[in-house]
Amino acid sequence: MTQDLAACGALIDALPDPALLVGADRRILLANPAARDLFAAPMVGASALSYIRQPEPAAALEKGLAMLADPSAPQDPVEARMIQTAPTRETILRVHVAALSPESQLPAILVTLRDISHVEEAEQQRRDFVANVSHEMRSPLTVLAGFIETLKGPARNDPAATLNFLDIMDREAQRMSRLVSDLLSLSRVESEERVRPRATVSMSDVLRATLAALRPQFEDAGIVVDFRDLPDAPMIAGDRDQLVQVFHNLVENALKYGGSGGKVALSLEKLEQMPGFTGPVLRVCVRDFGDGIDAIHLPRLTERFYRVDGHRSRNMGGTGLGLAIVKHIINRHRGRLSIRSTRGEGSTFAVVLPIS
Ligand SMILES: Nc1ncnc2c1ncn2[C@@H]1O[C@H](COP(=O)(O)OP(=O)(O)OP(=O)(O)O)[C@@H](O)[C@H]1O
Ligand SMILES: [Mg+2]
Repeated sequence: MTQDLAACGALIDALPDPALLVGADRRILLANPAARDLFAAPMVGASALSYIRQPEPAAALEKGLAMLADPSAPQDPVEARMIQTAPTRETILRVHVAALSPESQLPAILVTLRDISHVEEAEQQRRDFVANVSHEMRSPLTVLAGFIETLKGPARNDPAATLNFLDIMDREAQRMSRLVSDLLSLSRVESEERVRPRATVSMSDVLRATLAALRPQFEDAGIVVDFRDLPDAPMIAGDRDQLVQVFHNLVENALKYGGSGGKVALSLEKLEQMPGFTGPVLRVCVRDFGDGIDAIHLPRLTERFYRVDGHRSRNMGGTGLGLAIVKHIINRHRGRLSIRSTRGEGSTFAVVLPIS
């Protein structure tokens, strides 16, 4: 038996997941390093129930022990979900309990605990995403359906009202089509994230193309753009269309949400060193002088559908997907996005891209 125990010890010490060997009297015979880390305790000799206390996993443990007591009963492993709360974070674990086979001469159960927090998190994100998309789709659809009813009924013989309603319907249809194209763009960018871009692009060129496309919006809003270009900037490995998409969104955001400052500054510079990068980099800063963003929002800005002021963004035709797309494209280019903002002074969105 001692030999069996030593062999089991060597085996569970090699397992990546936390694992415990528990005897028939509920005492912990062995605990591997991952388990001792998880519970921050030596564990061996203590009752397993002092670590596995929640009703569901405790019941799984008891079922495992019952298998030991009656080897003729079915010996199927049992699973349960357990939440482990540590001071800094909450871990969700899948507890798996299996009795060692009677041949081992060691009356014990093996309890393994697998961290499934990230799996549950991903599922939650997927559910939130579906709920968000449905919600975003429903509002324009409700407006469209309402106006169709009105056009068929009360407004049938009113050409002036009809024109007005058609305008609104047009806007809502455009909003839906923007949402769908942003969603498609996001899914394309996500699926390509691991494929490194091959073409070489000039960032000056990308920025000039972006500004040219947005020129009418700047002129309409009476906002001045100050572009500090870097002539002879080195080319980088990149996807031109995607990079234009990045800066189109950043500059458009500066215009839409930071336009009250009357000016948007765009700069391109080369830096020989940057923490986190092995070689020289190009840095593009998009700066506005508007209201700025409260610090609590900054870490969440690149989440899909996250908006600081949902009402205002929707009124401006925003879908809240722009920065999520930006983040994925920058990741694909092995770059980094950082956001700094001061309430009342404006925001700076800085994109750092490695020079391959
Ligand atoms: N320069 C900025 N100043 C203030 N707030 C900003 C700025 N840029 C972005 N935001 C905030 O971040 C939110 C998310 O921006 P994002 O580009 O992802 O979405 P959007 O502009 O609302 O929609 P889309 O880009 O899809 O048209 C915006 O709704 C806005 O609240
Ligand atoms: Mg945007």
